[in-house]
Amino acid sequence: MNSKYIINISNLCKSFTDENNSKIEIINNLNFKLKSSSKVSIVGPSGSGKSTFLNIIGLLDKEFSGTYYFKEKNISICSNKETNSLRGKSIGFIHQFFHLIPELTVIENVMLPLLINKNEDKSLNASKEILVKFGLEERLNFKPLKLSGGEQQRVAIARSLVNNPDIILADEMTGNLDEDTANRIFNFFIEFIKQNKKTLVYVTHNKKFSLLADEIFFFNNKNLQLKSE
Ligand SMILES: Nc1ncnc2c1ncn2[C@@H]1O[C@H](COP(=O)(O)OP(=O)(O)OP(=O)(O)O)[C@@H](O)[C@H]1O
Ligand SMILES: [Mg+2]
Repeated sequence: MNSKYIINISNLCKSFTDENNSKIEIINNLNFKLKSSSKVSIVGPSGSGKSTFLNIIGLLDKEFSGTYYFKEKNISICSNKETNSLRGKSIGFIHQFFHLIPELTVIENVMLPLLINKNEDKSLNASKEILVKFGLEERLNFKPLKLSGGEQQRVAIARSLVNNPDIILADEMTGNLDEDTANRIFNFFIEFIKQNKKTLVYVTHNKKFSLLADEIFFFNNKNLQLKSE
């Protein structure tokens, strides 16, 4: 096993079964290696399989064939408990629609991933610290629905980073924001990723954002192709 790769995937295949019980193949024989601290973007048409792939690498979906090593662990033979713990410690996930819990305040939403392993005081302090970095110190006790879209996305980003994950996976993180807000948030986010030397995989429909990655992949014909232009 080569330890320089945080993700090492060979011959990945993924199918869904439709309501008539027929198999729909989404990913076919995909190989993908990712070095620590690299930034990779994934582009491709709607329905091509980008989110499906991100869910697999984010350990949210283990129903695939092929081999997946995440930080040298063979995911197919990890128990669900091990997978959950690996995901909780090492992966930050940012969704297009924020996925904040409406009943909880901003600070409670951000504290959530920490409460599993840390006590409440430590979780509170770490969450405050990151929310301040994201300019949300005045919004700690707001409920998500009282925030603008851009503010909600900053909370979701803060939540994905609060447990200091090795890798951040972002699925269309600015897809639901107006252009100016998307620009501001994305530029701030990518700067944070660079400064903190995090590994990043992001799916985007925005060409300008995709170009900020070290490598751009195109999801096409059930597979990933490196874009070389
Ligand atoms: N749970 C599921 N059951 C059956 N089919 C599914 C399921 N999840 C996704 N699919 C199908 O897999 C295909 C790929 O979906 P996916 O969400 O990965 O696309 P995508 O590239 O992320 O698209 P978009 O850019 O619109 O977000 C789609 O045709 C979708 O209908
Ligand atoms: Mg998608």
